Amino acid sequence: MDWGMKNRLSRIINPRSGRCVMLAVDHGYFQGPTTGLENLGKTVNPLLLYADALMITRGALRNWIPPTTDKPIVLRVSGGQSILKELSNEIITTSIEDAIRINASAITCSVYVGGEYEKQTIDNLSRLVNEGEAYGIPVLAVTAVGKELVRDARYLGLACRICVEVGAHMVKTYYCKDFPEVVEACGNIPVVIAGGKKIEEKAALEMAVNATKDGAAGVDMGRNIFQSDNPVGMIKAVKAIVHENATLSEALDIYRTPHEGSRILQ
Ligand code: 5RP
Repeated sequence: MDWGMKNRLSRIINPRSGRCVMLAVDHGYFQGPTTGLENLGKTVNPLLLYADALMITRGALRNWIPPTTDKPIVLRVSGGQSILKELSNEIITTSIEDAIRINASAITCSVYVGGEYEKQTIDNLSRLVNEGEAYGIPVLAVTAVGKELVRDARYLGLACRICVEVGAHMVKTYYCKDFPEVVEACGNIPVVIAGGKKIEEKAALEMAVNATKDGAAGVDMGRNIFQSDNPVGMIKAVKAIVHENATLSEALDIYRTPHEGSRILQ
């Protein structure tokens, strides 16, 4: 692996621990003004201090994030569909030149294995990997799940392994039963988990604890952080799990501590 590629990857995934807390706020690219991200800057800027990396689109980045930030950017470069249409119908929206101009530390697209436009999304990933290899920019493949697909180790293992074989440098997927099998099938490629739809804070933290125990390199979590009643408490709790192997009870104590923007009733 080239020096530039290694350097960018090590800005995202801590080279000593092999772990990462990535904050995902790219939802608007197909969901529009997602709850909590209507004024993206107001929500995200207080959380940035605790994130190792930020996953975001170029438009949101230029609108709401100060260019003085030192956080590595994982730039969402796919899109082209909305929640009103077939989700797998994605194209590449952002050129590699613009990703370089933005100083992205990685680029990312979704891969819809089993989706109507499966081949198109695998083609998107292949093109990003080819461009990323040319310029030393790692690619995060997001295994996106179609509506009626079961999120089990068999399916997620299939989706993740295809991304690895195409050349992704990191994979984002969902936590599931038998998760170690999914991780094993990815070889040396780090696997981070998505949070998915907002669930109770305790359940989201438990998922992070189990995922890291089961071999995840950390999280790329969005709604379960920024839609929490205590977003700063939540990201600090997730960070303690990922970087300090905090237990569920330790993480819950951190989440329950009032922080700026907390709506937890005391
Ligand atoms: C879509 C995505 C999301 O936009 C987002 O990054 C998911 O994060 P979370 O599920 O934790 O809200 O990756 O496939």
